[in-house]
Amino acid sequence: MNPPTEPRLDIAPFRARRARLLARMHALGGGIALLPTAPERPRNRDALYPYRFDSYFYYLTGFCEPEAVVALIAGEEDRSILFCRAKDEEREIWDGYRFGPEAAQAAFGFDQAWTIGELERRLPELLSNQPVLWCSLGYDRAWDDKIMAALNAVRAQCRSGVVAPHAVRELRTELDEMRLIKDDFELATMRRAACISAAAHRRAMAATRPGRFEYEIEAELLYAFRAAGSQAPAYTSIVASGPNACVLHYVDNDRRMADGELLLIDAGCELDGYASDITRTFPVNGRFSGPQRDIYELVLAAQTAAKAAIRPGAHWNAPHEAAVKVLAQGMLDLKLLNGSLDSVLENGDYRRFYMHRTGHWLGLDVHDAGDYKQDGHWRPLVPGMVLTVEPGCYIRPDETVPEVFWNIGVRIEDDAVVTAQGCEILTDEAPRSVADIEALMREAQP
Ligand code: GLY
Ligand code: MN
Ligand code: MN
Repeated sequence: MNPPTEPRLDIAPFRARRARLLARMHALGGGIALLPTAPERPRNRDALYPYRFDSYFYYLTGFCEPEAVVALIAGEEDRSILFCRAKDEEREIWDGYRFGPEAAQAAFGFDQAWTIGELERRLPELLSNQPVLWCSLGYDRAWDDKIMAALNAVRAQCRSGVVAPHAVRELRTELDEMRLIKDDFELATMRRAACISAAAHRRAMAATRPGRFEYEIEAELLYAFRAAGSQAPAYTSIVASGPNACVLHYVDNDRRMADGELLLIDAGCELDGYASDITRTFPVNGRFSGPQRDIYELVLAAQTAAKAAIRPGAHWNAPHEAAVKVLAQGMLDLKLLNGSLDSVLENGDYRRFYMHRTGHWLGLDVHDAGDYKQDGHWRPLVPGMVLTVEPGCYIRPDETVPEVFWNIGVRIEDDAVVTAQGCEILTDEAPRSVADIEALMREAQP
């Protein structure tokens, strides 16, 4: 079967990442790195979940098929080897094109490629006399068992002078640090993903009105993602109206929306492996009520303060601290809380209405790879890091707070790249101000 007629993948960034990892391995004792992609997972009986490759594997290879392993050898001459499914005309009739080792080697720039069926036989020979084995254990028992069997096969040959790796090092730790700083190729993809998601949020706002169901709006989002070429949502969309907006991970999306309520949508597409992550909150009838506007403007002010705190050298927690300060003062002003700003910040009372953090790394995974602290301290921001900025305020019915605020849940979430000057917001095309949201919804009225 011929390859699909899609634009050829630019393999240069993937080769560059393999070269960087190999350089790092050389600096830390050389050896061999082994990394499998994700397994296919059954959904029910013989139906599978839609396949999604492993993010680390994809980062180094660009290869999307299941049943694949990459080996990188930091030796006198570096070597990259792909194990992948064999060509199989019968299976290709049922399931579609597969590269096979020969075409994959050429298309993805590997030094060698073998069929996945050869992996177990080849592993002991690949591990022999390597000083260090770089891999990630403890995530998949079947993979751990393969590695253990191969190591033991090498150890069994020790009396013939073969030496087994004397150290096993965690591969993900190295890759996490690399993934944290996005290259230009990644940033270009993330900008496109953010644009598609922003357009989907505009479509959802335009389609929302009292009497419609949350799932109808979810369908608008999914349509916009897919119609623009995104392969999948980056995570299950949250379409939460009225009291559901106060359920942080609400995904039932089956309620009929009523006049006078807010709708909180947290939805983003995945494009070529990269996630976007946007939340917008807006009135179902297109006009914010007074109390809704009070809470909305407070969350927006907190988000503005958080964004202003993003710049190289600022520490990871600076945007969160800036957002919390604004939110806590606002909660006092609106009589949601009593006391002084210092006491509310000190005792954490604001967490009654703001119980999550202000962001996370974003990339191949929606909650992306990378540590948040180094040596016990929040790490400094560096150009090329991508993070979300997502403060919120969620007020469940409670006799101690003014009833006009009950069931109001607001979150505003954007995606930001740290730049030399500060940050670039990728998701500005999704309306955010009260005026812009109300104008869009007014124009969309039938
Ligand atoms: N959509 C997941 C998150 O905002 O963290
Ligand atoms: Mn997020
Ligand atoms: Mn989100």
